[in-house]
Amino acid sequence: TIQSQVDQLISQMSPAEKAGQLTQYFYFRLPEGAEPGLDFDADQQPQMVESALRSGAAGSLLFVFDPAEVNRLQRLAIEGNRLGIPALFGFDVIHGLRTILPVPIAMAASWDPDTIERGQAVAAREARAVGIHWTFAPMVDIARDPRWGRIIEGAGEDPYLGAAVAVAQVRGFQGGELGEPDRVIAGPKHFAGYGAALGGRDYDEVNLSDSELWNVYFPPFKAAIDAGAGNVMTAYMPLNGIPAAGSRWLFTDVLRDTWGFEGFVVSDANVVRSLVTHGFAADLGDAAARAVNAGVDMEMAVADPGYAHLPEALESGDADPQAVDASVRRILEAKIRLGLFDAPYVDENRAREVLADPAHREVARVAAERSAVLLRNEGDLLPLTAGDLGSIAVIGPLADSKRDTLGPWVFDFDLDETVTVVEGLRAKAGEGVRVDHARGVRVGQRLFPSLFDMFGGNKPADPEGFDDEAEFDRAVDLARGADVAVVVAGEWQNMIGEAASRSSLELPGRQLELLQAVVATGTPVVLLIMNGRPLDLRWAAEHVPAILDIWYPGSQGGAAVANLLFGEVSPGGKLPFSWPRTVGQVPMVYSHTRSHEPENQQRRYWDEASTPLFPFGHGLSYGRFDYANLAVDQPACTTDGSVTVSVEVTNSADREADEVVQLYLHQRHGSAVRPVRELKGFRRVALAAGESRTLEFPLGPNERRYWNAAVRGWVTDASTFDVWVGGDSTAALSTTFEVTDA
Ligand code: IFM
Repeated sequence: TIQSQVDQLISQMSPAEKAGQLTQYFYFRLPEGAEPGLDFDADQQPQMVESALRSGAAGSLLFVFDPAEVNRLQRLAIEGNRLGIPALFGFDVIHGLRTILPVPIAMAASWDPDTIERGQAVAAREARAVGIHWTFAPMVDIARDPRWGRIIEGAGEDPYLGAAVAVAQVRGFQGGELGEPDRVIAGPKHFAGYGAALGGRDYDEVNLSDSELWNVYFPPFKAAIDAGAGNVMTAYMPLNGIPAAGSRWLFTDVLRDTWGFEGFVVSDANVVRSLVTHGFAADLGDAAARAVNAGVDMEMAVADPGYAHLPEALESGDADPQAVDASVRRILEAKIRLGLFDAPYVDENRAREVLADPAHREVARVAAERSAVLLRNEGDLLPLTAGDLGSIAVIGPLADSKRDTLGPWVFDFDLDETVTVVEGLRAKAGEGVRVDHARGVRVGQRLFPSLFDMFGGNKPADPEGFDDEAEFDRAVDLARGADVAVVVAGEWQNMIGEAASRSSLELPGRQLELLQAVVATGTPVVLLIMNGRPLDLRWAAEHVPAILDIWYPGSQGGAAVANLLFGEVSPGGKLPFSWPRTVGQVPMVYSHTRSHEPENQQRRYWDEASTPLFPFGHGLSYGRFDYANLAVDQPACTTDGSVTVSVEVTNSADREADEVVQLYLHQRHGSAVRPVRELKGFRRVALAAGESRTLEFPLGPNERRYWNAAVRGWVTDASTFDVWVGGDSTAALSTTFEVTDA
């Protein structure tokens, strides 16, 4: 059995060998001339890691994705420890390895668990083929402050949507039990609260009440664990004063004892070391002991790992030998379940075939189509009819940028297989339509460099010798002479993601000025937003007739955009966050509680409305959806009982389209104050022209329960409940039901 194999191995291991199994190293081969900006000798990194592998001091590596390299390093690992234990290869396969899917926030905007699961299954298949066993994904951190760059990696502001997206991702990456072919271990991260960084500043401290943790920040993690995720990654920062990686409460009391998590926990990069930096641990040995005692099984480190000090910490009694053995056991179990002892190497030819599978590109295109969100469509400017157009002017530096089309957190991409908006429109528009492109402006520069500049191809690609005034004028002239102008605006991909927080949400550089000049030409304008966070679109939302959020749409982004603009498919995505008007409104959530004077909006800000520019769940369509016959199957139920809500949705347009039907709930009174609305059900449905469908949503104790700070536990109250069903979080159609004591 697995247990006896593990027992046998552990009984033969020295403390140093155990520490080795609990240590994961970055393995970088930096491009010539790269400046890593990290405090280590990048040139020495490969040799240092290889010597750790040879001496059994490394049990896992990250950042290796070339199958020949994986095999070479695996051989070093197996031959390097006397017990022949293979290494575990992890990597950030966040939205695809070679075939790049839309960024995670975009996938969440599809509100479509099937699309998300299918997409991550492709990512897993490619990753496993090259020898990666484990992905550091999904990121399930709730993000309510778009200044935080990592909002792009999650599912937005809402715990219910976040949990559904987390489950779909875990299923896609991992399938069921560890060890299924073509799958990888899923590692939801970063436990816990990372998305609530103070001021939206990456890595900053987080202070959250228990009620926010249990009701908002924990549910996606719990859902991912219930779906079988085999790994969890720690957050970097202190949560309520205790650094996450030193928190026994998080990793033992909550994760294992309360939720029954049986997988292994990895620290985020160099986070054991930062227990010292934060002023929590006295030194690296103390840090290692406190992390392992808290339940952090493996340390991820660039160099000089704290867990190398575990033998001394065991000797001194600071590290609990049972905790260390439990951690080693979890790592060995994962390796055995994955089948690594029997088949540690990958077939490099098969890897090539899998990476080139055209079916993967198809999945990426459909995902990009399904995640686009139509924010505005005045006068039904969209869809465009190719037959009515002689020329399209495509404007903006992102419109033909392959690297930006892919978004951040990708490393093994193939630019030749990447379709930009310009390329997609050219391919689709057909012979009779001219598609011309002008950059018009630069996107602008980051004031400080990006963490990812060191990886090849990540730096922004404004051309050398760009003549600002001439290019600006050329773009405006092009728009003036065209039948329609498609302006693509947003952020360079390196302006968002990890270590990419912003103090402003404005379009970087002169993009707004360019948009204004193009609109002033009188040519109808379609604005495409390439982004991973909401940007300040106040001007555009008043003056630009059509706005489509295409996010960073991935390898097939341009093809998907062309299908959407020409009406081959209708946009059906919905916003996974409230889109603020201005940065001063953030954090802004739809599921806030009622204020002292709820009707008096003016008492909130005197210089700006208190409503978002676009509400959570918003997204238009080429279809037209009418909601009717909202009903509850019974007027009342008891606190342990359920009701079923039904609603009829009709597509009254003359074409097929998708709608995401959303249900929101509100508890009127009870043992604590509850949000004005909370999402408690949704379904994405395709309705043919004229089709009506009745949908049902069960509302049981799980949908009504919440964590109550007064009793420090879960409650379901007797109360009157309001239900709204519609196409976004401002849905007006409503009904009520009663819940009485059981
Ligand atoms: O997985 C990531 C994590 O999200 C942030 N720090 C680095 C890790 C490995 O790349």
